[in-house]
Amino acid sequence: IASSNDGLQPRSAFSSRLGFVMAAAGSAVGVGNIWGFPTQVAGHGGAAFILVYLLMVVVLAYPMLVAEMTIGRMAQKNPVAAMGSLSDKPFWKKTGAVVGIAGIVTLSLIISFYAIISGWLLAFMLEPLAKLAGMTGLASWLTSFSTSLNLIAMGAFMAVTIHVVRAGVSNGIERWSKKLMPMMFILLIGLAAYIMTLEGAEQGLLMYLKPDFSHILEPSLLVNAMGQAFFSLSLGVCAIMVYGSYLSEKESLPKTAAMVTALDTSVALLAGLLVIPAMTVAQANGVTIYAPDGTLLESDTLVFTVLPALFNSMGAAGSLVAIAFFALMSIAALTSSISMLEAPVNTVCEQLNSCRSRMSIVIGGAVSVVSAIIILNFEALFGLVVTLTTVYGQPLLALLFGLMLTWVLRRDRLLNELKKGSPDMEQSLFWKIWPWYVKFVCPVLMLFVLLK
Ligand code: PFF
Repeated sequence: IASSNDGLQPRSAFSSRLGFVMAAAGSAVGVGNIWGFPTQVAGHGGAAFILVYLLMVVVLAYPMLVAEMTIGRMAQKNPVAAMGSLSDKPFWKKTGAVVGIAGIVTLSLIISFYAIISGWLLAFMLEPLAKLAGMTGLASWLTSFSTSLNLIAMGAFMAVTIHVVRAGVSNGIERWSKKLMPMMFILLIGLAAYIMTLEGAEQGLLMYLKPDFSHILEPSLLVNAMGQAFFSLSLGVCAIMVYGSYLSEKESLPKTAAMVTALDTSVALLAGLLVIPAMTVAQANGVTIYAPDGTLLESDTLVFTVLPALFNSMGAAGSLVAIAFFALMSIAALTSSISMLEAPVNTVCEQLNSCRSRMSIVIGGAVSVVSAIIILNFEALFGLVVTLTTVYGQPLLALLFGLMLTWVLRRDRLLNELKKGSPDMEQSLFWKIWPWYVKFVCPVLMLFVLLK
């Protein structure tokens, strides 16, 4: 079993390539794809944003994804130990471990805000059921965003996450990802197809697919697109690194990373076909989607006010659509949050030699306490934590991972790891370009985006 594998070599805990791809794509596909991407597209010039986003995925996020997976698989250890093993020099061992710890701390903060949002998604999924059962008091509490709801819904979501992580890598994470990801796909495609048949959907399609290039010059566009790409691919915070450490040496790193990137990007693009037309259908039904100054409403208002208003106006079918939509979001959120909890759990288990089951509860509990602190100081902390971790933390840490891999690790060790699972690697363009690209080009590109 996976948990007894922890720390042993090799520890390829995923039973197959499919298992890894489903779990890693499960980590990548989340609230960022289904909510973040479409609302960013709608607010930043439609297809103009899509183009810049795709560019960011190809030129920065994918190369960094390979880097982070490579560190994990080469070390076959938890992220902190993995980062500490890139060099034999004491200075780099310490520096690596510190960067690893910074990744784990950032990740723990990401779970603590992600669980709050995910709690709301769960509550909004249950609300139509409460209504159908005639429990109107419960139904209005579920959509109240009150402190009691926020605490209980966050706690419930964390409990499910802990339950999956406790069961181990193959028995918990892989098993659940293989079940949940296809379910998520079916819901997404079904919902998008349904929304597309409704009146007003066409305007949404237009808003989505027609590029408004006036936005290309906005200074925030590049940073937003890069942040979105790094968040969407779960980069820089050890979640992908820990999954990489469970990947079999028979698999090719560039290929599996390409599959994960392709799945993540496809889901984001598909989610745009659902969420943006749904917004304009709502508008056709009399729901406002623009603020008085003519800009699109805030993304949380769109998801938690505009879309529910649309579902409400659709009668009995609306309840079903609402349940399906929030189930889709909750499932996507769950496969992401289990990847987030896995990294600290694996690290603490291995470093302290303690058992997975207990540590899942202890660490999941500690994260829930941080989450509760954010809930109780929502105005002051929520936005701050989101910005610090995702806008600054993720790109910066991903960059440090890439730099340590290419500057600190001996080049022959890096190339040797890349060859595993790809017998014809030496002939490939990837082999010739990638190590050099991550070493020199990525840092320059990222600095350019961040300082622009
Ligand atoms: N990629 C997830 C999303 O798009 O919602 C969020 C995420 C998961 C970020 C895992 C970071 C992470 F480690």
